[in-house]
Amino acid sequence: MTARRRRPAIDLEALLRDERAEVERALARACEWLGDELPDELFQPARHAVLSGGKRLRPVLCVVAYRACGGSTGPAVYDLGAAIELIHAYSLMHDDLPCMDDADLRRGQPTPHTLFGEEATARAGLALIPAASLWALRASNALGAGDAVSRRIVSRLNRAAGAGGMVGGQALDLLAEGRGLDSTDLDRLHHMKTGALLTASLVIGGIAAGASDTTLDGLESFGCGIGLAFQVTDDILDATEVAADLGKHPSDDLLGKSTYVSLYGLEEAMKRARVHAEEATEALRGAGLDAPALIALASYVVERRK
Ligand code: IPE
Ligand code: IPE
Ligand code: MG
Ligand code: MG
Ligand code: MG
Repeated sequence: MTARRRRPAIDLEALLRDERAEVERALARACEWLGDELPDELFQPARHAVLSGGKRLRPVLCVVAYRACGGSTGPAVYDLGAAIELIHAYSLMHDDLPCMDDADLRRGQPTPHTLFGEEATARAGLALIPAASLWALRASNALGAGDAVSRRIVSRLNRAAGAGGMVGGQALDLLAEGRGLDSTDLDRLHHMKTGALLTASLVIGGIAAGASDTTLDGLESFGCGIGLAFQVTDDILDATEVAADLGKHPSDDLLGKSTYVSLYGLEEAMKRARVHAEEATEALRGAGLDAPALIALASYVVERRK
């Protein structure tokens, strides 16, 4: 009888290190292009927001999903991931503005509006929205995707970013300041504000690789689970870490935000984050997608310290 060959365990640290290095190269390419597209007054805050670090989770999810669905990685799929990160960078620029979370610290650095002014930062953030679509289109062309696939990719990115996704979630987040939301409304807020773009990152990777509808459904459910787990963990870290370690300021508590921690308390929030990550993993298995790297990333989402 032959012994069943064991799959080597995923080295999460190496995965993140290697993928992030490629993502940084892709973001540098995107910024080179942005430098030609934008006037300097808008380019400077945009470049600061795009190149100031961060976990790069959205592009990493996109590339890892692409590979899990049979795509063979090269620069173009990292460019696709970078397009999603442009939307994320703009969302943070606006999230930190005085009219939103009024934050002076992000990723351990001064926020763009404290360096470049509110007006230039607001406009630079807006300029990143069409830039992200154009960059996604260019990347999907470079991947050899046909018109129909490119249309699906760009449309999915915009849906996730818009009023039915991130922007809608941000609006709910602001409306909920100082009021306690119930669990249904808070889940909805988290799904839109954070889950939509994380899910789109995975699904876009799958679409680019030509994944079947069943696989895309699996990625969708996985994204919903890790999206919730991610934002619950963001709320937990906000309540438990000091600004110097987290690199972000001010705290949700200071802003009177509705968070999982304010609704459930710390212990229960931690339990729920883990449950959401486990449900995500189950959904992936249920769809028959054998993707140990995605499963490792689901653990990372709840175990991270930043
Ligand atoms: C912060 O996102 C905003 C949320 C959606 C919670 P990230 O935690 O992914 O931020 P960076 O990119 O790593 O700084
Ligand atoms: C912001 O959520 C989510 C976005 C869509 C940008 P938070 O306001 O909780 O993000 P942080 O904690 O400032 O990163
Ligand atoms: Mg916010
Ligand atoms: Mg914020
Ligand atoms: Mg937060």
